[in-house]
Amino acid sequence: MLSYRHAFHAGNHADVLKHVVLMQILAYMQQKEKPFLYVDTHAGAGLYDLRGDWACKTHEYESGIARLWCNTELPEILQNYLQAVQNLNAPGSLDIYPGSPWLAHEMLRPQDKARLFELHSNEFNILSDNFSSTKNIKCEQGDGFKALTAILPPESRRAVVLIDPPYEIKTDYQTVVQAVKAAYKRFATGIYMIWYPVINRRVIDQLEQELADSGMRNIVQFELSVTADATASGMTGSGMIVLNPPWQLEQSMKACLPWLQKQLALDETAAYRVSTIVEE
Ligand SMILES: C[S@@+](CC[C@H](N)C(=O)[O-])C[C@H]1O[C@@H](n2cnc3c(N)ncnc32)[C@H](O)[C@@H]1O
Repeated sequence: MLSYRHAFHAGNHADVLKHVVLMQILAYMQQKEKPFLYVDTHAGAGLYDLRGDWACKTHEYESGIARLWCNTELPEILQNYLQAVQNLNAPGSLDIYPGSPWLAHEMLRPQDKARLFELHSNEFNILSDNFSSTKNIKCEQGDGFKALTAILPPESRRAVVLIDPPYEIKTDYQTVVQAVKAAYKRFATGIYMIWYPVINRRVIDQLEQELADSGMRNIVQFELSVTADATASGMTGSGMIVLNPPWQLEQSMKACLPWLQKQLALDETAAYRVSTIVEE
């Protein structure tokens, strides 16, 4: 029985990195009038109560979003992300954290569309309630890995895809590569984002190698570790791998990652990296 519930982790350092990259990419998509499709293969519930039992059990958001929340020296690049969090909360009170579907909803224009997939019924019910009155967002209960290929390419030929599995099933590390390869075959110009946790470095090295050998091009990686790798200590960091990144993304991440590292560090071994897995 799989037990992953994102409410335990909402707003942690990994969500911050993932959502900062997502918001930057969506901001770049808005620079052209032409509509785009946003796809979230593993959508979660969409909104999370930070005062609820689950978030309060782990307090993960306290070493994530809470460290940025009141910071007055926020880099310009992070403003749209923080603004989206602030829009949900009363001034000075951090009670609700937006998941990726909600952040995307903040960035969609009337001409854009979103398809959100969630496998588990509890999460799916909350997700579809959260978007019940939003016409251009479609929530679907099902396996996002399997659904992805069938919905590509989009009519507008512009799409951003977030693949954010819980990695409870160890084969998810391989499934993620297979899913992107299949999607890329149908639609090679889409922007694909793969989130991963740093728990066991060897697994991440293997993921990078599989992508490097995949034949797909133009793949970059942004990683933020809040402490040094330590296989026995759970998640010490996380990363976002982006295929076909907007050309400005690498520069803007290089500008904000040192600041994020400083804010989110658990100790002096915190680090970030920006790597090219495959050149353009
Ligand atoms: C890490 S959470 C998603 C968080 C969300 N993307 C965000 O950033 O706010 C992963 C979600 O994927 C769901 N899930 C697990 N396997 C899935 C699958 N094969 N297809 C779709 N959803 C799945 C889990 O129930 C969980 O809600």
